[in-house]
Amino acid sequence: MDQVQQQQQLSPHVLIFPFPAQGHVNSMLKLSELLCLAGINITFLASYNIHNRLLRHSNVISRFSKYPGFNLEHLPDGINENNIHTPGGVMELYTALRSIGRPFLTELLSKDSGDGGKNMPPLTCIIADGILSVALDVAQEFGLPVLYFRTISALAFWAYFCIPQLIEAGELPFSGNDMDLPIVNVKGMEGFLRRRDLPSFCRVDDLTNPDFNSLLNETLQTPRAKGLILNTFEDLEGPILSHIRTHCPNLYTIGPLHAHLKTRLQVHTLNSNSDSSSYSSNSLWEEDRSCINWLDKQPYKSVLYVSFGSITIITREKLWEFWHGIVNSGVRFLWVIRPDLIRAWNDELESSNKSTPMQLEEATKERGHMVEWAPQEEVLAHPAVAGFLTHSGWNSTLESIVEGVPMLCWPYFADQQPNSRFVGEVWKIGLDMKDTCDRRIVEKMIRDLMVERKDELLHRADHMAKLARKSIEKGGSSFCNLERLIDDIKSAYF
Ligand code: UDX
Repeated sequence: MDQVQQQQQLSPHVLIFPFPAQGHVNSMLKLSELLCLAGINITFLASYNIHNRLLRHSNVISRFSKYPGFNLEHLPDGINENNIHTPGGVMELYTALRSIGRPFLTELLSKDSGDGGKNMPPLTCIIADGILSVALDVAQEFGLPVLYFRTISALAFWAYFCIPQLIEAGELPFSGNDMDLPIVNVKGMEGFLRRRDLPSFCRVDDLTNPDFNSLLNETLQTPRAKGLILNTFEDLEGPILSHIRTHCPNLYTIGPLHAHLKTRLQVHTLNSNSDSSSYSSNSLWEEDRSCINWLDKQPYKSVLYVSFGSITIITREKLWEFWHGIVNSGVRFLWVIRPDLIRAWNDELESSNKSTPMQLEEATKERGHMVEWAPQEEVLAHPAVAGFLTHSGWNSTLESIVEGVPMLCWPYFADQQPNSRFVGEVWKIGLDMKDTCDRRIVEKMIRDLMVERKDELLHRADHMAKLARKSIEKGGSSFCNLERLIDDIKSAYF
């Protein structure tokens, strides 16, 4: 056994188990890399399909190959990740994850090392996605500590966590009407939270709705974990974090993770005197870099970046309203249109003579550029970008915050509804356009973001960006919390 192998055998070994979706896998891979940099052995457990996509589309494998203590595992086939936004889709995914994950985890933990025979030391801890209590259940049988990593914002987690109080007070359920009525039983959000700002799964008439219950049950189990890791920073969500600490005192706020990882890789490169530690995203789709060349040719702070993340689907009618609104606003734009963004697009093409994405592209050539998937972090960091029309996914929100780019929010589902309320009403670094999709409103709000209120929003976004960066510098809150997490994992102190 050489020196590296000996060192590896003495280091802790953590199993990282994400929920199978881009936003979750993305941030949990970043956490994995941060822990690898600290000399901790990692086994990353992906679903069968995500594992295959990681192999096909990303450079994850080549990047992680420089960490001898990193091991990629996958669950057996049988989990369909694509139906998550259909009614019953969340519960279906949970049922599959439980029935496939439970026996697999049991077998994995029964083995000496949990690494599929790759000469790793025994597992010392699990970091599971905060909505995968199946990991808690199995780990408990083996006496292994579990930390939870919730990939959403603290504010959205807290809104989910308070649902029992909302039910008790009669604020839930509500039918689709009076969406502007205030919600008063989420502590710390009184005064600005409305029905429409609750996580979308709360929009149910019937509290026995299976998707609603799956997510609620998972969230309420969080205090069973030995600690909760959140991709956020204290200056952003401090008041909400204080409320969460009353139920989950061992909180590790270590975000924004992508920026944190970038900084630590730079330091590592300097210290090890090598250039092998370059940073890259963890995309499950192929990135079209033509948009960077296009951005290079645009004036400073002139472009609106439009992307609705990896899960959102919209109807052709809504896409059409967006297109009119964006084009009529007169701004330059870079638009990500995933091939599966539009519901039933292919079927409709057969019977319709309306514009296709190709024709849209033709019509927008003058001021716009479209891609199927962009290198988003790089796009948001580009000097030509001045605004982000976003679905308010948490990764997208943090990536925008770090680059000081004001947002126009059009949330699709889940945590995105409360996220966009905080962007518009609390942090005041953007505008919230939820629940409307009318071309005149889209046009007006884009002009507000990019012209009328541009300076004011840029100023506030720039201030928040500075706070984000401060948190990951040596001595900053996220920096110190990551050090504490690493120490706790190394000393098995939970
Ligand atoms: C969803 C939820 O919306 C999110 O809030 C939750 O935390 C995780 O699940 P998703 O819809 O994928 O995630 O949105 P988001 O969290 O914003 O993640 C999208 C990721 O894809 C970002 O890291 C973004 O940089 C990346 N992306 C998106 C690209 O790299 N290229 C693109 O063209 C679009």
